Amino acid sequence: MINIKIKRFKDGKEWIEEYKVPENLTVLEALEYINKEYNADIAFRYSCRNCQCGSCSLTINNEPKLACVEKVKDGMLIEALKGFRVIRDLIVDRESYNKKLLNIRNFLIRKKYPEYIEKIDDNVVEKVKNLKSCIECLSCLSLCPARENSNYPGATIMRQLARFLEDVRDEEDREKIAFFENLFNCTTCHKCVEVCPMDIDIVKKAIEKLREYSFKKGLYLDNHLKVRENLLKYNRSVVKEDIPFLEEIDKEYFKAENEKFKVLFFTGCLVDYRLKNLAYETIKVLNAHNISVVVPKNQVCCLSPMLRVGQRDIANKLIEMNKRIFNEYKEKYNYKYIVTICAGCGSTLKNDYKLEDVRDITELINEVGFLKYKPLKMRVTYHHPCHLLRGQKIKDEPIKILKSIPKLEYVEIPAKCCGAGGGVRSGNPELSKIIGTKRKKDIMKLDVEGVITVCPFCEYQLKDILEDTNIKVYNIVSILSKVI
Ligand code: SF4
Ligand code: SF4
Ligand code: FES
Repeated sequence: MINIKIKRFKDGKEWIEEYKVPENLTVLEALEYINKEYNADIAFRYSCRNCQCGSCSLTINNEPKLACVEKVKDGMLIEALKGFRVIRDLIVDRESYNKKLLNIRNFLIRKKYPEYIEKIDDNVVEKVKNLKSCIECLSCLSLCPARENSNYPGATIMRQLARFLEDVRDEEDREKIAFFENLFNCTTCHKCVEVCPMDIDIVKKAIEKLREYSFKKGLYLDNHLKVRENLLKYNRSVVKEDIPFLEEIDKEYFKAENEKFKVLFFTGCLVDYRLKNLAYETIKVLNAHNISVVVPKNQVCCLSPMLRVGQRDIANKLIEMNKRIFNEYKEKYNYKYIVTICAGCGSTLKNDYKLEDVRDITELINEVGFLKYKPLKMRVTYHHPCHLLRGQKIKDEPIKILKSIPKLEYVEIPAKCCGAGGGVRSGNPELSKIIGTKRKKDIMKLDVEGVITVCPFCEYQLKDILEDTNIKVYNIVSILSKVI
């Protein structure tokens, strides 16, 4: 037998009860067992018992899960699905979702009955198949930072709208509805994708698609046009202020003493234009690990800032430029990997360019092995950049590096979006700040001196929100450069 905890709620009061249940049960079976054996009268919802109706979603150990799928574990905490009003015990009020479906006119709209029956293109059917496999469990709404902090209805609503985009029969302006439902508030954090039991790629297939259609119709956030102007002018997403790193360096090859192999360093816009020191530290750290570094001076923005906000029309030119450079340098130096120190760049090169030889610096250092690092007396936490954690599935590598540094005290913090991504920091700074301030509250509880991350966007965001504190923010590369 194992112990599980259940958060109960009735008549405005909440409390936690603990029960012993047999092992190997699903949570749903355990709830039935408790009601039968202990006469507990816990209220919960279910129907199909087989991952089809979506009615049994709950919060289990702080994550949205289906009760009919998840197995019980000792010490598990079971609560109602977060992000919704609780009616009783584990039952939440789904009315806001149902109402929103009506608001967005979640049905085929046609003005008159057609004279002939149009056939939907097979390709379109194939494209929306994944989007249509939703079981309406609402898990994707539960922990969405945009929904929690603004008038944004959440991923599955955008998914519903995106289903109609290429449906020739539908005459409603779905991208316009999405735009006015705050489509651009999504930070593309991928939490919704992570928790979706049906593996629906909502961000790419719904949110970024709707943004693309919306941009074509002239519906976008003004600040995103400024980013576009920068890209058209400098091939960088930010304005040139100082001499960029790539213009400053007088060579492109930085050889390690005992070279194991070479890597191509993809700097990304912020490191090249704003964080030059970080670029030099990267070379120093890689060289210290016996990795030689090649830096193409003509590399350009990966285009993540435009892809995430649906401005795909200028994407191809820059993507092709980078790909050409990668190929040329492969021939010239035969580098083993392309290395990034920016979660957004890494995720874009891996998932949008679909390159297989890209490594985040933390992945690479775990692969080549740690050095005997110097001690660094500091109490720190690690902020998981969404585009590293969910975009690249890199979770433990940075933490292992931190734990290998003598005297460095690492304190865990649950992963949560800081509000910088998806064009929200540039396009909707007010919302970005609200999300960031929530992150600040989590960080302040830990009594740490530093927050470590591997993303210049998160770094800027965290520095801004922690500006009035003594907590410093570092890219993990800066920490490594202190201890080698
Ligand atoms: S990507 Fe993040 S912000 Fe966007 S809908 Fe999904 S959970 Fe919400
Ligand atoms: S999109 Fe996935 S997580 Fe969201 S309601 Fe549908 S099945 Fe559940
Ligand atoms: S009971 Fe239907 S999905 Fe779990």
